[in-house]
Amino acid sequence: MLSFTLSLLACLAAPGLAQDVITEDSAFYGQSPPVYPSPEGKGTGDWAAAYSQAQEIVSELSREEKVSLTGGIDVDSACSGVIPAIPRVNFTGLCLSDAGNGPRTTNFVSSWPSGLSVGASWNRELAHKRAVGMGGEFRAKGVNILLGPVVGPLGRIASSGRNWEGFSNDPYLCGALAYETVDGVQSTGVITSTKHFIGNEQETNRNPEGNVAAVSSNIDDKTMHELYLWPFQDAVKAGTGNIMCSYNRVNNSYGCSNSKTQNGLLKTELGFQGFVVTDWGAHHAGVATALAGLDMVMPSGSAFWAGNLTTAVNNGSVPESRLDDMATRILATWFKMKQEEGFPTPGLGMPSNLAVPHQKVIATSPKNKDVLLQGAIEGHVLLKNVNNALPLKSPKLISLFGYSAKSFDSYTPGASGWNDGSEPTTSTHMQIAPNGTMISGGGSGANQPAYVSSPFEALSQRAYADGSSLWWDFHSGNPKVDQSSDACIVVGNAYASEGWDRIGLHDDFTDALIANVAAQCRNTIVVFHNAGVRLVDQTRAARSSRCSTAT
Ligand SMILES: *[C@@H]1O[C@H](CO)[C@@H](O)[C@H](O)[C@H]1NC(C)=O
Ligand SMILES: *[C@@H]1O[C@H](CO)[C@@H](O)[C@H](O)[C@H]1NC(C)=O
Ligand SMILES: *[C@@H]1O[C@H](CO)[C@@H](O)[C@H](O)[C@H]1NC(C)=O
Ligand SMILES: *[C@@H]1O[C@H](CO)[C@@H](O)[C@H](O)[C@H]1NC(C)=O
Ligand SMILES: *[C@@H]1O[C@H](CO)[C@@H](O)[C@H](O)[C@H]1NC(C)=O
Repeated sequence: MLSFTLSLLACLAAPGLAQDVITEDSAFYGQSPPVYPSPEGKGTGDWAAAYSQAQEIVSELSREEKVSLTGGIDVDSACSGVIPAIPRVNFTGLCLSDAGNGPRTTNFVSSWPSGLSVGASWNRELAHKRAVGMGGEFRAKGVNILLGPVVGPLGRIASSGRNWEGFSNDPYLCGALAYETVDGVQSTGVITSTKHFIGNEQETNRNPEGNVAAVSSNIDDKTMHELYLWPFQDAVKAGTGNIMCSYNRVNNSYGCSNSKTQNGLLKTELGFQGFVVTDWGAHHAGVATALAGLDMVMPSGSAFWAGNLTTAVNNGSVPESRLDDMATRILATWFKMKQEEGFPTPGLGMPSNLAVPHQKVIATSPKNKDVLLQGAIEGHVLLKNVNNALPLKSPKLISLFGYSAKSFDSYTPGASGWNDGSEPTTSTHMQIAPNGTMISGGGSGANQPAYVSSPFEALSQRAYADGSSLWWDFHSGNPKVDQSSDACIVVGNAYASEGWDRIGLHDDFTDALIANVAAQCRNTIVVFHNAGVRLVDQTRAARSSRCSTAT
């Protein structure tokens, strides 16, 4: 199903300009206060039964078995991460998989509206229905833990590559929709991994390179609580079973080693009773991370944990009670979602190679059709409608332009979202997806459409029904316009992806295309599929005054 990421609404969140804002960067050095020991999960409230089930099992496990729960292993699977089973106690293992907008790297699943589109809907009920539908697909595929929703980045940086994965840069709206998402997904028995904790606002230098450490988000306490922690609070309140710690540092201490954020903010202040998993490869220390409240490492525990964690418990540098707490938190979450009863075999519908024979596991469901369509509709934002250009009034001829109006030629399962599956290499291509309708942003938040209806296909279908005509050119930057056109529609996009920040908020090719069409057409309508803020001032300046424009 097609999901549009169409929103020009996003406005920038400024960090709360409170009186106690600290402007000197050096004031943050070494300022992540130590918070130890790591609070043990107590199993209060509706976690009580799950905790006692988990504690019973943990008391039967060897030290090595407990350690095996805390780190991923390398197996042949399309799951993003795998925790091995412990058959002796009927623990079937875990498949953790991407991502917050639908299952990735597999077949027979839907491309759910991206976080940005959910935010544009301002619709709690629809967000909940989307979450239930999406959770059902992950469950059918044997995914125990859905790696989402994204509530960080929140959107401090307009060009950040992953803003589109989250709901909104308004912490209240973001938190409200995160609540519905966690509640909806977990109602299907799938655990949410609310991410990325915390201050994960940019892709640039998100990871250390050589001797250069990852970027540090230096955040004072008030801004932390009023802005970045706010939506995590809603997710914890909704019962999220898992939180993913982030790549960046916070006050110069790595997200997954930070005792103030994990032991302090998350496990003490918010009373989080589930477990914390690293972002993939965000583990940079062994003993220190265990003491700082980390519970699970992905995709592999082998560098710092695994055997080294066993050694660290043996030699007393990590208390056995901390290891028990990790294992208890992980198993309690599994029991709380009732994954011990009738959950599909982990990784069942996630074959590592779709090009070889595999079991067909169909996760799509006709009952999701309306929710998917409504999500696409409410994800659209009508920015401007001059001279009532919209809705179209029985046009006899529509001229259609722009690379994002057509279907792309091929789609590779697991593709990064840049519709032909390859990674952009030139600066223009870092800004737009040039080979067809952009269906999502790129990276681990990209997803897998069961089918795509491009604007060209949808308009063709309508033209057939209405007996009207289309004219099109998807390639030229300065196309000829049939002067009988009742409307000219230009469809462009603005691409963004995990892995790099956008290099600008508009691109010259698309802006010129719009100006060129508008100069030849009385009625030009501009549509963007945009994974983030998209400036349109350049085209407005160039436009002739006789054009009416809806964007
Ligand atoms: C970061 O440092 C500031 C300034 O010292 C402090 O207010 C805040 O609590 C610190 N936060 C974390 C997570 O270390
Ligand atoms: C594992 O499952 C079997 C079959 O349902 C049951 O008999 C056994 O008691 C279970 N073992 C544990 C440790 O729960
Ligand atoms: C322990 O950690 C070191 C590096 O920190 C790594 O080379 C080694 O393989 C680890 N050993 C085990 C048993 O995990
Ligand atoms: C205990 O083991 C861990 C993991 O191998 C190691 O990093 C740490 O230095 C050891 N501590 C002592 C006191 O031997
Ligand atoms: C996608 O578009 C770019 C730029 O026009 C082009 O270089 C590339 O070959 C296209 N890929 C496919 C699969 O058409």
